[in-house]
Amino acid sequence: MLQGKSILLGVSGGIAAYKAAELVRMFVRENASVHVVMTAGARQFVTPLTFQTLSSNPVGTDLFNLESESRISHIHKARIPDLVVLAPATANLIAKMAAGMADDLLTTILLATTAPVLVCPAMNVKMWEHPATRRNMKTLGELGYKVVDPGVGSLACKEEGTGRLAELSDIFEAACRVLTPPTLAGRRVLVSAGPTWEPFDPVRFISNPSTGKMGYALARIAARRAAEVHLVTGPSSIESPRGVLTHPVTTALQMQEAVAKLAPRMDAIVMAAAVSDYRPSMLAPQKLKKTREGHTVCLEPNPDILAGLGTVKPPSQVLVGFAAETENLLENARDKLVRKNLHFIVANNLTQKGSGFGCDTNEVKILDRDGTVTELPFQTKNEVAGEVWNRIERIFESIAAK
Ligand code: C5P
Repeated sequence: MLQGKSILLGVSGGIAAYKAAELVRMFVRENASVHVVMTAGARQFVTPLTFQTLSSNPVGTDLFNLESESRISHIHKARIPDLVVLAPATANLIAKMAAGMADDLLTTILLATTAPVLVCPAMNVKMWEHPATRRNMKTLGELGYKVVDPGVGSLACKEEGTGRLAELSDIFEAACRVLTPPTLAGRRVLVSAGPTWEPFDPVRFISNPSTGKMGYALARIAARRAAEVHLVTGPSSIESPRGVLTHPVTTALQMQEAVAKLAPRMDAIVMAAAVSDYRPSMLAPQKLKKTREGHTVCLEPNPDILAGLGTVKPPSQVLVGFAAETENLLENARDKLVRKNLHFIVANNLTQKGSGFGCDTNEVKILDRDGTVTELPFQTKNEVAGEVWNRIERIFESIAAK
């Protein structure tokens, strides 16, 4: 998803420098081109060879290196990137940036670049809380630097508190947000994700194998495009993307209640949740005991949340559903598209390898109201999510043009 993007990763001298190596891999995996510049302090913790190997690019270390300066000057280096990420950013680097100093390759590039800069501080809690660092961080904010705040927890110096480098997934996500055009800015969207659990005693329930990956991908991509994202999620082990407003639920009835509360204010609703169609009619107060005869669990239908939304939706609201099928994919999906009053429906064939529950990939067909069927290639769920939001953005445009 970062194809064609160039990221300059500045690494300064803190113990978290080793984590920057993994960050390079995360960017490279998404096809970004990564150039690393290390301070002298960073080279005490990790060797340039590590970053050179992972990025497949030469690592910048020395402002006064004749050979590398003649190949590509620090001024030119500053012009290349679409984004500069500083991880970890030490108290010293932050102080130099706040003062506008340029006494090594990294700080010189930082003064010369016009690219957005994402600062990811990491330091001892006392250093983070020191009035000088507080003042410097305030200055960085005023200078327009973006910050991914450090996390709270146990620090390498054996102290507890704020100062750990933010989770790499949060830094990665923040970088993606800076690099993604904010095409959903000002839009409020709701995504549902995951399965629902329908209990019949305090420790057992009926459900399905949904992991929530598709819904979380939809929420992640909408957030990258600057939407206000509400994620109503059934039980899932996936971490909610930073900045996404998450509303956890367990049962279909709870999901219905959470969705109903939010729905009237939403510009678009994408129901990717695998809602259980039935729930047990009875909930035993205690764990059911094993018997020779077995048990019969009677089921009653759950409300169809999406169909309900389709009957009350405001004219300008975009409504999208998913149809996961094991047979007659197109006929079943078309029926749901009309019956639930949707703008379009995303159909996936559960019997296909690499698609559906639990996979990171999906091969889907999109059915529009005019009868068009668009077959999307086999791709990651993030990419499928991108296609879904592209379509929703086009519908927003056509509604606005009316
Ligand atoms: O009817 P089916 O379950 O296949 O429909 C799939 C679509 O309807 C999905 O978008 C799903 O989130 C939604 N749905 C719902 N409430 C239900 C069942 C499905 O909103 N009870």
